[in-house]
Amino acid sequence: MPEPGVPSDADWTLETERLELAPMVEGDSDALFALLKDPEIHAFTGGQPPASADDVRATIRRRGSRRSPAGDELWLNWTLRLRDDRTVVGYVQAGVKEGRADMAWVVGVAFQRRGFGSEASRRVLTWLRHQLQLHEVGARIHPDHIASRRLARSVGLRPTGEHTDDGEEVWRATFVDSQYAMSVAS
Ligand SMILES: CC(C)(COP(=O)(O)OP(=O)(O)OC[C@H]1O[C@@H](n2cnc3c(N)ncnc32)[C@H](O)[C@@H]1OP(=O)(O)O)[C@@H](O)C(=O)NCCC(=O)NCCS
Repeated sequence: MPEPGVPSDADWTLETERLELAPMVEGDSDALFALLKDPEIHAFTGGQPPASADDVRATIRRRGSRRSPAGDELWLNWTLRLRDDRTVVGYVQAGVKEGRADMAWVVGVAFQRRGFGSEASRRVLTWLRHQLQLHEVGARIHPDHIASRRLARSVGLRPTGEHTDDGEEVWRATFVDSQYAMSVAS
C-alpha cells in the first residue's frame, strides 16, 4: 500500500457536535501551553510539562511538515476547540505508517470528564479509517490509566495483552472486523 501524502489542511479539518478539530498551528501555542503546563496531564505518559509557550511553538514548528524526521510517517496533530467560543481544550494526534495509525489524546484538566476526549478521538479514528483507508488503529496506554482505557474502549479499541518496554498496554481496532463498526456506532 503506498504511503498517503500529506493531506491538505482542509481535508483534515474536522467537526463534531461540540468541537472543531483543526490542524495544529503555531498560533495555538499559548493556549496549548496553558493546558500542558499542568503536571497532572503528564502523570501517565512520563513526559515533562513544556517550560514555556515558546517551547510548544518550537515543537509545533518542527512538526510543520506533518511528517516524522525520517519522513516515513505522517504526524498529524489536531487542536481541539469548542465550537461555541473557540476555547482550546486539548489535542489528538496520530502517527500514520504502513496502513496503520498510533493515536494519542490529551484534554486539559479543566475540560475533562465532559466527553470531549471521546468525541474528538472517535471523529479522528473514523477519518483515519475512511479517508486514509487504514486497516488498523492503535494506542499505547498505561494499565492504571482508567480515563484513557475507558476512552479507548468507547471509541472501539480493545486491549491486546501486549505490552511495550515502558509497560504500556497496546490497544487496537482492526477494520476488517465488522464488530468494530458496530461497537463504534453503539
Ligand atoms: C485521557 C483523557 C484524554 C480523557 O479525556 P476526557 O475528555 O476526560 O475523556 P471523556 O470525558 O471522553 O471520558 C472518557 C471515559 O473516561 C472516563 N473518565 C474520564 N476521566 C476519568 C477519571 N479521571 N477517572 C475515571 N474515569 C474517567 C469517562 O467517564 C468516560 O468513560 P465512559 O466512556 O465509560 O463513560 C484525559 O484524561 C487526559 O488528557 N489525560 C492526560 C493525558 C493523557 O494521559 N493522555 C493519554 C495518552 S494516550
